[in-house]
Amino acid sequence: MSQFFFTLTNPESEPLLKKELSIGYPNFKLSYSRPGFLTFKGPDGGTFAPWMCRLSGTCLGKKTVEELNSLPKAWLWKRLESFNPPPELVFLSDKSLFKIGEKVTLIMMVGENEYWLGEYIQKKTHFQTPGEVSSIEKKEVPSRAYYKIAEAFESFDLPMEANEKVLELGSAPGGASMFLLDQDLKVFGVDPAEMDKGVLSHFNFKHIKKPFETLNVGNFAEDIDWIISDVNLPPSVVIQEVDRFLSFLEPRGVVLTLKLHQDRYLRMLKPIVESYKQKGFTQVELKYLPSYRQEICLIALK
Ligand SMILES: C[S@@+](CC[C@H](N)C(=O)[O-])C[C@H]1O[C@@H](n2cnc3c(N)ncnc32)[C@H](O)[C@@H]1O
Repeated sequence: MSQFFFTLTNPESEPLLKKELSIGYPNFKLSYSRPGFLTFKGPDGGTFAPWMCRLSGTCLGKKTVEELNSLPKAWLWKRLESFNPPPELVFLSDKSLFKIGEKVTLIMMVGENEYWLGEYIQKKTHFQTPGEVSSIEKKEVPSRAYYKIAEAFESFDLPMEANEKVLELGSAPGGASMFLLDQDLKVFGVDPAEMDKGVLSHFNFKHIKKPFETLNVGNFAEDIDWIISDVNLPPSVVIQEVDRFLSFLEPRGVVLTLKLHQDRYLRMLKPIVESYKQKGFTQVELKYLPSYRQEICLIALK
């Protein structure tokens, strides 16, 4: 017996998702797909939770509007913003709420007149939005990194507290710093590149205008509560550098955006998770965030 599964991902990471499936789910075969919506045929009862997608679950097939109208509750996700779903489906979605642990019924509007139905369990780290789209309000920010850290903050409910100190590796131009400063955190931004002027002049921001490899224990007079990074370097380099900082700093949490510009980096993820568990971090998780391209978020909390 076989079963179908769906994934919703950002089109930039589709090749990585396919690669992940070929490595981690060799018995699953790509079935119907459109950009951002991929279905797979797999063994019945198999666990299916790939990393490189915003959302995955059981696929119940293509449905007509009449079939969907009879659902007691369901969320509606549109593949393209320009799609015009019938008002009754919009109404059904708008009045539907799903609690953590509950099975979500998701209508996926894949084309103007094409609807697919899926199911998944609502997790604590899921957003309360159909299709796991970002719930962060758009505003003028120095970089996309603002949304990435804001989404990590919301999704993992990061226990960051006012006045805690954050070491940000690769902080320019300053999107992530802006978000952290908005949360009343103190930010030490390490980057040889220029910072956004508003971030630079913030009373809680200190720019360490150097490559992070040049820093050592002597640069830190104060304790650091969090290490975050979104540098454009291979995961092995980032992990090695963060490990070096962990040899003399004792943060309560680490939040890393790991760039997966090569397929082979996918194989590093499981060992990285294990290594953080061995370092004494009790919650270690990976999540593909809505604003991501070819990257993944690793959080490790003590
Ligand atoms: C994707 S950007 C970071 C975005 C930034 N976090 C933000 O919120 O706007 C990557 C940054 O990493 C920095 N970077 C690369 N190698 C570095 C190194 N060895 N030390 C410090 N920063 C580095 C680059 O200068 C670049 O500004």
